[in-house]
Amino acid sequence: MISITPRVPNISFGQDFPVRWNGGDAAASHVFNALSWLFPSGERFFIDVVRAVAAELSSPLVTSFNHELQAFVVQEAIHSRQHQLYNDSMHRRGFRSVVAKTITRLQQQAHSMHVLSRLAIVCAYEHYTTILGDYLLRRPQLLQQAEPWLALLWQWHAVEELEHKAVCFELYHRAGGGYWRRNLLFLLVSLNFSLLFCRQYWHMLWKDGALRRGQLRHTLWRSMQLAWGREGFGWSLLHHGLAYWHPRYHPERFDSQHLIQQWLASHADSYRPWHHGTAKQPDC
Ligand SMILES: [Fe+2]
Ligand SMILES: [Fe+2]
Repeated sequence: MISITPRVPNISFGQDFPVRWNGGDAAASHVFNALSWLFPSGERFFIDVVRAVAAELSSPLVTSFNHELQAFVVQEAIHSRQHQLYNDSMHRRGFRSVVAKTITRLQQQAHSMHVLSRLAIVCAYEHYTTILGDYLLRRPQLLQQAEPWLALLWQWHAVEELEHKAVCFELYHRAGGGYWRRNLLFLLVSLNFSLLFCRQYWHMLWKDGALRRGQLRHTLWRSMQLAWGREGFGWSLLHHGLAYWHPRYHPERFDSQHLIQQWLASHADSYRPWHHGTAKQPDC
């Protein structure tokens, strides 16, 4: 497994940013903004589940994996905190989450499930963050016109998602999780994730005025292009989403080590490694 290093990006959230921060393009900005609203509570849920599994199944197979689990928890805790600050900044401009209550309800339902089912849910979300991280790092042009510190935030998050892509999957298998539980819950997560994202995305566009007459046609065209154009993210989600059904699927099949190394080397001044005692400690 790739070694996992939690990092803190050199970002100050004191500065406000234009909501169309990605080249003035409403669709290309709100695709990211909408995703950001899903992260803080989602990532806190991932941490809770991983901790619950590790506590419940203290077999040697799981405990030998402690370093990776701890690194996963710290990375997700820092992501959650950074996205909360990002969302707070959007909130000050009148944007809000329209899916927060639904997320809370889904998480409450998940808490009544078997711990392996909860972990299968996390594996499914981790699969999607791996796909999107890989997609983003392969296409730096998507953030070429962006506010530099927001491009940094998204690329740093993508790198760390690729770094820890196999942790939950490995834990699931070491804990005895099977194929059907993993894939049936993947279907459920695919549906929920799509609905949550679309609802938040259209709300962001509406609130921003990008669905008004005069802008509507362009916004719809750009949305279609971003998702289903020749380089659209929809094709990656579909292609790698189907790969998850292969009985021998493993996240290490994503050959993304070169993407991680390249980005870390070219942005060495943009982050610092996190360690115990770092001023900005994650809430973990
Ligand atoms: Fe994350
Ligand atoms: Fe993750």
